[in-house]
Amino acid sequence: MSSQANAALLERDAAHLIHPLHSRAGHAGGHVWVKGEGATLIDADGHRCIDGLAGLWNNTAGHGRRELIEAATRQLETLPYASGYTGSSNPPAIELAERLSKITYPSINRFFFTSGGGESTDSNIKMARSYWKLKGKPEKTKVISRQWGYHGVTLAAMSATGMTAYWPAFEPRVPGFIHIPSPYPYRYVAPAGKSQGLAAADELEKAILAEGQDTVAMFIAEPVQGAGGVIVPQDDYFARIREICTKYDVLLVSDEVITGFGRTGKMFGLEHWGVEPDMIQFAKAITSGYFPLGGIGVNDEIAATIEASGTAWMHAYTYSAHPVGCAIGVAMLGVIQRDDFPGQAATKGARLLKNLKQALADHPNVGDVRGLGLMCAVEIVKDKGTKEEFPAADKVGPRVHAAAVERGLFSRVRGDVFCLAPPIVIKDAELDRIVEILKDSIRAVLG
Ligand SMILES: Cc1ncc(COP(=O)(O)O)c(C=O)c1O
Repeated sequence: MSSQANAALLERDAAHLIHPLHSRAGHAGGHVWVKGEGATLIDADGHRCIDGLAGLWNNTAGHGRRELIEAATRQLETLPYASGYTGSSNPPAIELAERLSKITYPSINRFFFTSGGGESTDSNIKMARSYWKLKGKPEKTKVISRQWGYHGVTLAAMSATGMTAYWPAFEPRVPGFIHIPSPYPYRYVAPAGKSQGLAAADELEKAILAEGQDTVAMFIAEPVQGAGGVIVPQDDYFARIREICTKYDVLLVSDEVITGFGRTGKMFGLEHWGVEPDMIQFAKAITSGYFPLGGIGVNDEIAATIEASGTAWMHAYTYSAHPVGCAIGVAMLGVIQRDDFPGQAATKGARLLKNLKQALADHPNVGDVRGLGLMCAVEIVKDKGTKEEFPAADKVGPRVHAAAVERGLFSRVRGDVFCLAPPIVIKDAELDRIVEILKDSIRAVLG
């Protein structure tokens, strides 16, 4: 294509499209991607970028994966759609649920499918509320989540999401949603004499006691906070969270929409700390982004309670258990297991993190370099000593991002935190190139 093709497409785009997080200024100078190859995105002008966030954290298998394309094609030819409502099912959905029960946490054996992460958050909130009603505790309806948590943007999911920029245009939020501080190792300040992880976990106990344990249905948390800036919790955090949830009869929901299926170096995120949730939710990498599919998984006790209820569980999506999505999911689980995605993410993530630290830790504006598995972040600050941020108006993060795109790396920033989560199939040379580009980009903007 000509070097004008991108601009011409963007002009047509601007006339009729409303984008997620729509912003005219943010879209100016954007890219219209026309092709993907492995871990590379190519825009309409032929400009190539490393896909530094694997799409939106989802495309772990990279572009052009034959097994997924063939599974989709076969299923489209056989049965492109059938209802998943009770009384109707399809073989890929049955097989996907069977296989998920073998790889998720041992007590999680029953699954409901959705079209993505936000629908999964809503589904878990409704599942938790319906469960407590069936248990004779109809007052247990509140949802506790964390600052910097991201759980999607449907009205209920947005209310659980703790990134406050997502709220103002759409308030009022759904009532009964409470946010506690994130364990954020770089910024959370624990009282003297207490470990940061335990102090941050005890914020949950404080919130449950303040609200009244008989009113709290669930606590939802990402094992590693992703969109909030790749916040890896302390090793003692989730064990204490589990204790608190059990003590106060609050369901622990693990939002594995990013961390599921190998991204952190384990198949599911809480495996790092030997903790089992009561419910999970997943999306993204289950199809590597080749089809919009998500879902929830519940433990045996919750499943048995729903099963024993005399009334129908009145929650449903047209695309629940979509046969094409589920067929791709089955093929994807094959890829994940055969190619050991958790192992690859652990090895490649360690390489990326080590090299990022080596290249950037000495820079006067790099406050923190962190990660777990193949998800990393570089936090840029105005003052390393005080951890003071640059004023938002300086747009340091977006400027570093623009410099990186120019040099061939496309990803996302949260403020001045540069996030990285490339496809798990990425090559070592590409990982090393990411580090070079980021180093050059930070230098170009900040000296
Ligand atoms: C942890 C987490 N939960 C939920 C969601 C929402 O997913 P979706 O955008 O598919 O609604 C996301 C999206 O990034 C996410 O990262």
